[in-house]
Amino acid sequence: MSVLIDRIGELFTADPAHGVLEDAAVVLDGDRVAWVGPRSRAPEADERLDADGRAVVPGFVDSHAHLVFAGDRSAEFAARMAGEPYTGGGIRTTVAATREASDETLRANVARLTAEMLRQGTTTWEIKSGYGLTVADEARSLRIAGEFTAETTYLGAHTVPFGADADAYTALACGPMLDACAPHAKWVDVFCEKGAFDGDQARAVLTAGVAKGLLPRIHANQLTAGPGVRLAVELDAASADHCTHLTDEDVEALAASSTVATLLPGAEFSTRSPYPDARRLIDTGAAVALATDCNPGSSYTSSMAFCVALAVREMGMTPAEALTAATAGGAAALRRDDIGRIAVGARADLAVLAAPSCVHLAYRPGTPLIEAVVHGGTRVT
Ligand code: NIG
Ligand code: FE
Repeated sequence: MSVLIDRIGELFTADPAHGVLEDAAVVLDGDRVAWVGPRSRAPEADERLDADGRAVVPGFVDSHAHLVFAGDRSAEFAARMAGEPYTGGGIRTTVAATREASDETLRANVARLTAEMLRQGTTTWEIKSGYGLTVADEARSLRIAGEFTAETTYLGAHTVPFGADADAYTALACGPMLDACAPHAKWVDVFCEKGAFDGDQARAVLTAGVAKGLLPRIHANQLTAGPGVRLAVELDAASADHCTHLTDEDVEALAASSTVATLLPGAEFSTRSPYPDARRLIDTGAAVALATDCNPGSSYTSSMAFCVALAVREMGMTPAEALTAATAGGAAALRRDDIGRIAVGARADLAVLAAPSCVHLAYRPGTPLIEAVVHGGTRVT
């Protein structure tokens, strides 16, 4: 069945061929976009949806989220706001709660968060393991993640569990744990950071994952300017995530690569840290994505619009750059070309805003502007 979305005030396609169109229309056919252009030339369709001058944007692509967990760390957040630093040490608190939880509890948590995302205009989400840290708990996390997305990421190397030796744990993450998880994962990730995994350990995990058919991505340069970004480029990782502390060499390496710099400003907000310098990355020629990093510790937001607002207010991005990073950028960070843009042949994933232009996403922060969401051609809100 075809649907004409008519009288779109501003159509932000995130597609270079179409750019931003005013007084536009879109035709969806099944789960795909069939036509994009000025409304005066729109073809007929079985059904018509009147956008009445509102803006329409691609569904957000949240390419970085940790949704399989139990418990919350609101006390840790309150302590941080009172001056405690963020070190990543709280990951172990969530690991303990996650191991204790039943499959049903974990599944319900993922269902709650993905429903939250969808209501807020996110139509693709990546989901990582990383709060199990045993062979059985990591495999279970990925099995549950796979019920909600095809973009599943093995993050057994999220932190070294309490009492374990880092090299011995790295060997586990490269061996039996990977063997159990690889059938349920598309991606392999590692937290390359002081206090987590160093450059050699991170390389070992990613190359072991690649040898098992997984694709690499990495938590890099979040708390310190370590070797993560250069490792990402060396391994042609789809994405280097966080990129908060970058040297000039890191920025140049990203710009010369096909690795996307995925910025996660919810983490800087919630850990009261300096934001990454998006302007410097873009001006040097690096590809940039925005994602929520949704997790109970460093960034407990599921709102891509909030990340867009932070990127504009705090990171030197224009509203159009931020929205592109939250849609087409996320798609590039997942090496997908069927999502993140409104163009003929792309998936019919889009959001209608309760606003006349996409600038309002940053201009009206914290306001529920997502009025309607179409996911795979089906109107879900
Ligand atoms: O991306 N940095 C590592 N992992 C998460 C935080 C996890 C947590 O604090 O529970 C992140 O920020
Ligand atoms: Fe993360």
